[in-house]
Amino acid sequence: MCGIVGYVGEKNATPVLINALKKLEYRGYDSAGIAVLGDEDIIVKKAKGAIKYLVEKITGEIVKDSKNLSKEETEKAEAEYAAQIERTENFVKGNIGIGHTRWATHGEPSDLNAHPHTNVSGTIAVVHNGIIENYAKIKSWLQSQGVVFRSQTDTEVVAHLINYYYEQKKDIFFAVQQALKKLEGSYALGVLCRDFPDRIVAARKDCPLIVGVGKGENFIASDVPAILEYTREVHYLEQKEIAVLYADHVDLYNDEGERIIREPSHVDWDLSAAKKDGYAHFMLKEIHEQPKALTDTLRPRLVFEENRPSDIRFEEFDFDESWKNAGRIVITACGTASYAGMVARYAFEKFARIPVVVDAASEFRYRNPILKQDDIFIVISQSGETADTLEALRIAKRCGAKVIAITNTVGSSVSREADKVIYTWAGPEIAVASTKAYTTQLMCLYLLAIKMGEVRGTIEKQEYLTLLQQLEEIPQKAEKIIQELPVVQKFASEQFNKEKIFYIGRLFDSASSMECALKLKEVSYMHSEAFSAGELKHGPIALVDKNTLVVALATEPALYEKIASNILEVKARGASTMVITQDGKGAFKNCADTIIQIPECGGDLESIVSVIPAQLFAYYCAVQKGLNPDMPRNLAKSVTVE
Ligand code: M6R
Repeated sequence: MCGIVGYVGEKNATPVLINALKKLEYRGYDSAGIAVLGDEDIIVKKAKGAIKYLVEKITGEIVKDSKNLSKEETEKAEAEYAAQIERTENFVKGNIGIGHTRWATHGEPSDLNAHPHTNVSGTIAVVHNGIIENYAKIKSWLQSQGVVFRSQTDTEVVAHLINYYYEQKKDIFFAVQQALKKLEGSYALGVLCRDFPDRIVAARKDCPLIVGVGKGENFIASDVPAILEYTREVHYLEQKEIAVLYADHVDLYNDEGERIIREPSHVDWDLSAAKKDGYAHFMLKEIHEQPKALTDTLRPRLVFEENRPSDIRFEEFDFDESWKNAGRIVITACGTASYAGMVARYAFEKFARIPVVVDAASEFRYRNPILKQDDIFIVISQSGETADTLEALRIAKRCGAKVIAITNTVGSSVSREADKVIYTWAGPEIAVASTKAYTTQLMCLYLLAIKMGEVRGTIEKQEYLTLLQQLEEIPQKAEKIIQELPVVQKFASEQFNKEKIFYIGRLFDSASSMECALKLKEVSYMHSEAFSAGELKHGPIALVDKNTLVVALATEPALYEKIASNILEVKARGASTMVITQDGKGAFKNCADTIIQIPECGGDLESIVSVIPAQLFAYYCAVQKGLNPDMPRNLAKSVTVE
């Protein structure tokens, strides 16, 4: 939730901050703001809504809406917007500043509640990502000291609290350090002080924060893409560390104020990964990137002999006795990542014949979980920063479990705290709705399940080799499915006004249906639900009428006929129907209004890619409704609060 940035250097800070914030807009877009230290004072500009409204407020120029424009017109509008951002430097001048894009937790989205927040005299400005859990207590104490609050946010207490300690010694580092000792909850903070015009003080606990190290300039940001165009050298701040950034160097401290000496890490992400590259939206771009992301995730884990895959090997760890003798797999994650876990449950059971428990991290963390010595505990998280997932990981470790993390984000909290890390090499995922992260998570999970089957002797050697061959072909199968785009686009243009959309399936498909339904909800706001097809008649079918679309996932040939019967049942009640299946003609030709044919993958591997038509359907429904699929209302990509 929320993205924060900061800049100190030679450049005018304003356009740098705004450009960096644009890359973090996926973290929240209820309001945005900057604080820049000019010749004498801190200038604060904030606006409700997306960052373009902040640009409008600063420049006084309307930012052209790029909705429903042709490709050329969109490119022109984007170039104009980029120029407008550059012109902000004529209005707010200064070489040091902080910025924020907000996902509201405390206080409605408004100009007033937008960050940065300042002390009463406006000499200290703060941006914050996270939640100050004891803010009410601190607020009433500060009010008893005569402080008058202007916003409803939890963050404002931080500005006043820092001010309180600043008055004691007139030392901003001391003031931040003291204030942090009083804060409960989570934070990534950037602090600017008028009396210390050469530095930004930053700190983190339970929310991500990186320090970008440039030449004669330094940055803070919630995530790497924000600063990629300026530097690739970053410090991933550890829990409770404090950084002081000057133009020419950065000092790191622990919470006791002791200096920490650490070399920055090099990030080798491709800069184009953080750009739309001609696609109308990041979501569409990321759907198209899946073949490559799947290849990048799979290839390094396949061992080849005579040009044929002969084994699976994770550089990150050995499949030792603990895999052979494991009693259960326990998977914990949130949202899309948890649905990847649901599909994986079938894969582990099928290939490794091992019981699997899948739990939403937000549930797991509040139970008194039962973990056994021989459990293998897996957490899945694209961002590696999801608060619930991180807490589930910590609980599992406290229970003595060895934790394997599947994550897309190098240097994330999950990657640092897990015992072993398996990276999905999907590249940065910017759109709020997860697409390529999900399919690459599934690729990792299938690799684990299949290798585990081999280690435990539940898969014969020949079957193992066949599966490896089939896995190797998955990226090109994904490519073929993406080529079905025009059929899905047309179907979306006919169906986007439907009141209810139900995804149904059996076994693997029943699990995949959950992700399909979530995608649609998230970006098109259409009411969609997933049901196991066999359960329809036990209740949900009462909802079906002519305003219903039922999408069946049917990738299990042995169950085609059962699914066809389910489709006929809903069709008889007026529903429109679409089927996603390998069987283009036979079983469904008399019951489906539209068939999206996906290629045979073999070995139940279809579930790695069967979601792709549903991703495209969700995307095109959103576009038909005039929505921006990259920035769905009420959502943020990385949920770093409980
Ligand atoms: O970064 P994580 O994978 O931990 O995020 C988990 C969920 O918040 C995330 O998958 C969410 O459901 C997405 N909006 C899905 O599109």
